[in-house]
Amino acid sequence: MKIGKVKLDNNIILAPMAGYTDVGFRTLCKKYGAGLTVTEMISAKGLFFNEAGAKPLLITSEIEKPVSVQIFGSEPEYMVKAIQHPWLQKFDIIDINMGCPVPKVYCNGEGSALMGNLPLAEKIISDCVKATKKPVTVKFRKGISEDSVNCVEFAKMCEGSGVTTITVHGRTRDQFYSGKADLSIIEKVVKAVKIPVIANGDLCTKEDYENVIKQTGCAGVMVGRGSLGRPWIFAKMLGKEYTYDNFELIKEHIGTAEKLMGEDFKLIELRKHFSWYLKGLRGVGEYREKLYSLTNADEILTLLKQALSKKD
Ligand SMILES: Cc1cc2nc3c(=O)[nH]c(=O)nc-3n(C[C@H](O)[C@H](O)[C@H](O)COP(=O)(O)O)c2cc1C
Repeated sequence: MKIGKVKLDNNIILAPMAGYTDVGFRTLCKKYGAGLTVTEMISAKGLFFNEAGAKPLLITSEIEKPVSVQIFGSEPEYMVKAIQHPWLQKFDIIDINMGCPVPKVYCNGEGSALMGNLPLAEKIISDCVKATKKPVTVKFRKGISEDSVNCVEFAKMCEGSGVTTITVHGRTRDQFYSGKADLSIIEKVVKAVKIPVIANGDLCTKEDYENVIKQTGCAGVMVGRGSLGRPWIFAKMLGKEYTYDNFELIKEHIGTAEKLMGEDFKLIELRKHFSWYLKGLRGVGEYREKLYSLTNADEILTLLKQALSKKD
């Protein structure tokens, strides 16, 4: 699969997930075969007013290349300035977030709120496309609510504004992350535009992958929560052989993040990941609870080793 001139190894993409898709996790997913990794969403304005917050989110690893950066905002001039920011120059693809449902973002007129303001969304997108030679992609939802499903119109607007590829999450803003993703609406989007469409929402098995391509004609899929604690999901979906050991995965996750993030690395921010690595294992409930009371690296690793030696 190609996004503009950027060639990907395959069409299964790791979704951007704020607080989760740190460089350590993205690198693991890439090693297990993710066709593309994307940073979590980065505020265009935050690049100028909260540099310390934005900088760690922009750290990438060599193995990730090509890699995409996701930005969000509602002011076209800041979105353009963000694309031209020196820290973004190493990225191969610019992704614009027009799907985030969280109140802090939505109530600011950003993320999925832009699905309710097509003229502004169009201005942001076309200004961004003009500001870079890199492919610009947009990620959005089915619509804001069931009463205002407009992803087909939105997709056409993206195509007309020069966007290279779009990702459609088959849920409305009002659904946040609950309910089932609507794949039939993705099929309608695919039929309405000529640019590649990536399907997103509840896709995390080989069957899901094959079925959604057959059902919708989409060019690829994006995997979010299905990858948490399971970076090997990409190999599984691709039908490739793979092995893993949860404790080794955890150590590698920490090692990569620590090496690349340096002083910005905070082990406690990875505790939520560790909890995912334990998910589904029998008899580890008490360990998962205790995990959040620990801050010391040795204690955390000892606890994880004990939990994982119970059952894997
Ligand atoms: C914790 C969390 C954080 C997320 N952060 C982002 C983000 O930064 N940018 C974005 O476009 N989507 C974000 N999403 C949405 C996912 O990229 C994806 O669209 C959604 O989870 C649906 O896919 P799934 O059913 O495979 O999880 C986030 C989702 C979760 C659960």
